[in-house]
Amino acid sequence: MRTFFVTGGAGFIGSALARVLLDTYSEAEIVNFDALTYAGNLDNLRDLGERHRFIQGDIADAEAVRQALPEKVSAIFHLAAETHVDRSIRDPAPFIRANVLGTQVLLDVARERGAQRFVHVSTDEVLGSLSLDAAPLTENAPFAPNNPYSATKAAAEHLVRAAVVTHGLDAVITRCGNNYGPRQFPEKFIPLCLANALANQTLPVYGDGMYWRDWIYVEDHARALIAAYEHGKSGRVYHVGSRQEQANLHALHDLLDKLGKPRSLLRHVTDRPGHDKRYSLDPTTIENETGWRPQVLWDEGLARTIRWYAENPAWLERVRSGAYRDYYRQQYGAEVSA
Ligand code: NAD
Ligand code: TYD
Repeated sequence: MRTFFVTGGAGFIGSALARVLLDTYSEAEIVNFDALTYAGNLDNLRDLGERHRFIQGDIADAEAVRQALPEKVSAIFHLAAETHVDRSIRDPAPFIRANVLGTQVLLDVARERGAQRFVHVSTDEVLGSLSLDAAPLTENAPFAPNNPYSATKAAAEHLVRAAVVTHGLDAVITRCGNNYGPRQFPEKFIPLCLANALANQTLPVYGDGMYWRDWIYVEDHARALIAAYEHGKSGRVYHVGSRQEQANLHALHDLLDKLGKPRSLLRHVTDRPGHDKRYSLDPTTIENETGWRPQVLWDEGLARTIRWYAENPAWLERVRSGAYRDYYRQQYGAEVSA
């Protein structure tokens, strides 16, 4: 029987991964380890059943990780991180603690406990910005992070690589593009704009909106992580690209059109400092080595995402108003940090 240890599993991608893991492996058990920062959401885990166990804890706290991590887990899927670029620009300190120190602590305890595989979840942002005419980046492209979030994610990758080379840890690194889908915290672009549009509020477009991202439906990312766990080679990096690039402005046009809302809701606002123009990954390696392909294309994924938010107004309302902290305390007896 397999046991998986998922860090950051109360967040957007981690909770989707937990669902896909339970569906994929009918016997598997999951230990979900998450600090419950503002982005962790116990509502995301409600329907996961008895093969899923949640433990609240901080990956930078070695003793807490030691107590939670079972011996010889089949894999650690490491997603816990501070993730929002704009927050990292305002205050990088929590990013350094969670993303850099937390990753090193987890790597050390993984070795102690004899974890069979470490799947490190990274991002296209570690490679920095591309011009519009550049070819999608392969795994050999040099690091060029441009904001504190991506700098800490790049540092974490170096630590994983060092653990493989120095200590022989079995680890694979995945880098993915921008995810969208159900249960994403509405500070990120798609859920923020979707929630605003549902409430007939304006949609903030940074600068001219001509910034290109490779959007991927969250379950496709989860399936890629499982493909890397099953078939990836230790020490290798895998680019998880969906070949579905969109300019932000065009993504919002699609969103408003699907909702039947007017484009007059768009508001161009002050741009993000150091805003990366374009991210684009070449997924040929993961496609060839594992057979993985994205299954949900933009049109369908956007429709599913809209449907989920429209059908879950209580989730959205609690997160947007901040009421979720009191609600968790009452509902689950859990403390959520600021
Ligand atoms: P998220 O912000 O929704 O969730 C992050 C989770 O990590 C939260 O539940 C939070 O409570 C937890 N966490 C934060 N610090 C922690 C700590 N010190 N100890 C334990 N738990 C902690 O993020 P997400 O969008 O689900 O991203 C998950 C991972 O995927 C991150 O590593 C991120 O860098 C990576 N990634 C995200 C995207 C994207 O588009 N969202 C794209 C590529 C890679
Ligand atoms: P975001 O969801 O923060 O992801 P990332 O910065 O990791 O790509 O932003 C996605 C894109 O949307 C990015 O180009 C910044 C832009 N954006 C806006 O135009 N308005 C917003 O309110 C936000 C949050 C992002």
